Amino acid sequence: MDSVLKGKHIVLGITGGIAAYKSVTLLRLLVKAGAEVQVVITPAGKEFITPVTLSALSGKPVVSEFFTANTGEWHSHVDLGIWADLMVIAPATASTIGKMANGIADNMLVTTYLSAKEHVMIAPAMDLDMMAHPSTVRNLATLESYGVEIIEPAAGELASHLVGKGRMEEPENIFSRIEKYFLSQCDLKGKKVAITAGPTYEKLDPVRFIGNYSSGKMGFALAEECASRGADVTLVCGPVSLVTTNPNIVRVDVESAEEMLAAARQPFAEADFGIFAAAVADYRPEVRAQSKLKREGAEDMTLRLVRNPDIAATLAATKRDGQVFAGFALETDHEHENAFKKLHKKNLDMVVLNSLQDKGAGFGTDTNKITILSKDGTEKTFPLKSKRAVAADILDLMCSFK
Ligand code: PMT
Repeated sequence: MDSVLKGKHIVLGITGGIAAYKSVTLLRLLVKAGAEVQVVITPAGKEFITPVTLSALSGKPVVSEFFTANTGEWHSHVDLGIWADLMVIAPATASTIGKMANGIADNMLVTTYLSAKEHVMIAPAMDLDMMAHPSTVRNLATLESYGVEIIEPAAGELASHLVGKGRMEEPENIFSRIEKYFLSQCDLKGKKVAITAGPTYEKLDPVRFIGNYSSGKMGFALAEECASRGADVTLVCGPVSLVTTNPNIVRVDVESAEEMLAAARQPFAEADFGIFAAAVADYRPEVRAQSKLKREGAEDMTLRLVRNPDIAATLAATKRDGQVFAGFALETDHEHENAFKKLHKKNLDMVVLNSLQDKGAGFGTDTNKITILSKDGTEKTFPLKSKRAVAADILDLMCSFK
């Protein structure tokens, strides 16, 4: 699977702080993920890290001055600002933060920032007293109000040997934030999404059924997340007591697995993204009694069950090129093994594994803890999150398949 960063244009700004050495690792991670990186360094930044190292790693000459001294070539901050899909300044010193907040455009980095059309992130790095100074606090708040994303520095031992907040965030974590940003840009406007949710009820007689504990929360969270990203969503759901809020969601209520399959056929055939979040009964009573089954004094009773259709397997069997289908796997043991089997057997692009072994995961909860297994063999585990945040993670990954 390609990284979401593949082909993205990133301006990496480096300023004059000891943490500049960490920018080399960040640059390597970005390039390795397939991003095109243009390094812009302040004059002070060059005292900490050499442009030769940076241009060798980025494969592009480093930009620092408005002109190249020997040729007089003009470096256009405006062009760079337009070219960039994202600008990241790491490390960002108190001085650069102050200039950015106040529009003091006396170097190539700050002029590029002022011309940047897309998102800007900064990773401050400085001594703890500078970090806590009211002017830094105010400047950061100003930048935040301009929409700049601040990657908070960590606390720890600083270059001054003092201990406190001011260490630039580790390059791997900055890289994750960058990845997250691009993933969150996944826009579903004009896309169709089909989702199954909730339990199915398999009738025994007019008053009894075989069912399960699914509340529908996971499927509904997915529907709301997709709709809020602009998708037209069809939500085929079993008996639940939830309501949808987004007008882009068309809800189709069903009861049994057979009804769910019938209602899901067309939406899934037309969908760009299909998600099977329902907990479907694998079996149903062979006979549905027309009137209430009576005890008639019997000490026991045998019910004959017949297999229900596998909705995911049936609909994914005719999956077209360009369609991305995700299923769930609700497991209690041998989680990975079972989830991988479902991924392949049902012809899915990914399987979202949730285990009843994990507290706060699975049925009825407002949270879930998932691992997503993809058909290319990759695996991503997420911490316990709200079902809405889990839905966002699932969609971000599904979008990266497109
Ligand atoms: O609804 P909540 O209370 O929020 O709980 C969420 C959930 C636990 C129900 C959800 O996260 C989840 O795991 N859904 C799938 C539950 C399940 O039935 O898993 P499974 O491992 O038995 O099925 C595997 C996949 O095949 C699932 O995508 C399922 O929807 C699908 N399936 C299964 C059987 C069947 N006959 N038809 C299907 O489509």
